[in-house]
Amino acid sequence: MSLNGISDELLKELLAEHLTPSKSIQTPERLFGRTKNLRTIDRALSSPGRQIFIHGDRGVGKTSLALTAANLHTDSTLKPIHVMCGAHSTFAEVIHAIGAATVPVERRLGERATGGGFNFNLPGGIGGVGFTRPTVSTGSMEAPKSLNEALDIVRYVAQVAKGKQVVIIDEMERVSSADEREKFAEFIKNLQEMPDNLRFIFCGIGHDLTELLQAHASAGRILETIKLERLNHSDLWQIITVVADRLKVKIQRDALIRIGQISDGFPHYVHLIGESLFWSMFDDPELVTISNASHFKTGIEGALQRTEAMLRAQYEKATRKTRNTADYEDALWALADSTADSRQIAQIYESSYTWIVAKRARVRLPRDRLNQRYLALRKDTHGRIVVGFGSGWYAFRENIMRGYVRLRAVHEGIDLGRHNTTAGD
Ligand SMILES: Nc1ncnc2c1ncn2[C@@H]1O[C@H](COP(=O)(O)OP(=O)(O)OP(=O)(O)O)[C@@H](O)[C@H]1O
Ligand SMILES: [Mg+2]
Repeated sequence: MSLNGISDELLKELLAEHLTPSKSIQTPERLFGRTKNLRTIDRALSSPGRQIFIHGDRGVGKTSLALTAANLHTDSTLKPIHVMCGAHSTFAEVIHAIGAATVPVERRLGERATGGGFNFNLPGGIGGVGFTRPTVSTGSMEAPKSLNEALDIVRYVAQVAKGKQVVIIDEMERVSSADEREKFAEFIKNLQEMPDNLRFIFCGIGHDLTELLQAHASAGRILETIKLERLNHSDLWQIITVVADRLKVKIQRDALIRIGQISDGFPHYVHLIGESLFWSMFDDPELVTISNASHFKTGIEGALQRTEAMLRAQYEKATRKTRNTADYEDALWALADSTADSRQIAQIYESSYTWIVAKRARVRLPRDRLNQRYLALRKDTHGRIVVGFGSGWYAFRENIMRGYVRLRAVHEGIDLGRHNTTAGD
């Protein structure tokens, strides 16, 4: 076909290996732009009793960093333990899941099917070390009933591991109860008494630690806190250029710049656009050595169709109304025309909105009417896609949304975040 010497099978294999829009990364050679963070984690984990907390925007790459670091700091005979929190998760359930991870899944399921299970049979007592090994098939495994029982489970897991092992407690923002968060904070405070071969990486969406943990001052001393930033453009480009190099093709510089701009630091979009872009180059009847505008366009279309359903649904909920649909769309596009986390109405109006409505040949609303659109976009009926901070300041509730809005706009021929460098607030 049209990529020299590349078969359909080989392309599928290469894309699956390098482009993972819906899967976290686990190895350092695929984790771009995080060398410094990996070094920070490495140094923190060499310090006795220190644990890691990674927080940042949704989709910024928290789980990928955690998994990669966990693999690097877990002995090769072991695997990291990765547990997810849910909206109704209790502290006890999460710790229980960590204990359960020491039992192979087939045994856990087999025992459940036969009514078996295992029991931690834990004694209490502050700092108590007198735990026993789980006795298999003695009723269902129990969740810890106290902090001490939870710590006993941790000691048990460390003892079973023998070597170095990392436990990731992921998606902590989903724990909705303040009481349960308080228990996590208390637990973290006590981790310094635990065996050092077992280390913890906590992850969650949030601007700061206190949003995720009813943070005790001493929990803060134990934790190395990493605020994960969006990736910069050159790191984002590597996601695509690594594949292009393997295929011995080039990607137009303009396309790379636009992909960097659209994705705005969120790798999900780069992986998505990359997949469709390479397939489009492959499907070209001509032999391709460098991408062209039409490959880029197909890349955008493919990415739009395959963006995470939740982001698409949020956009539709915000804009598809019986009235004023296009107004809401203009408002979202105008807000997305800058990488600034929040923007003021006067600035949005002057440097983005006016330009967008002119390009779309639409009627320009007065500024106060545009402001009303943003006020509406904060409401449940619009999926609360926007948050307001008063005095005409607005932001997307989740920064990852900006990439999807930019994809929609570029599909209609409007490159947001590009036309005017002063739009950067
Ligand atoms: N450093 C990186 N280099 C390249 N791709 C990355 C990097 N970090 C993350 N990704 C990709 O970005 C996407 C999101 O990553 P990940 O799931 O780790 O983010 P997250 O912050 O945990 O998201 P969420 O908040 O939804 O849990 C995935 O497709 C992943 O493959
Ligand atoms: Mg995650």
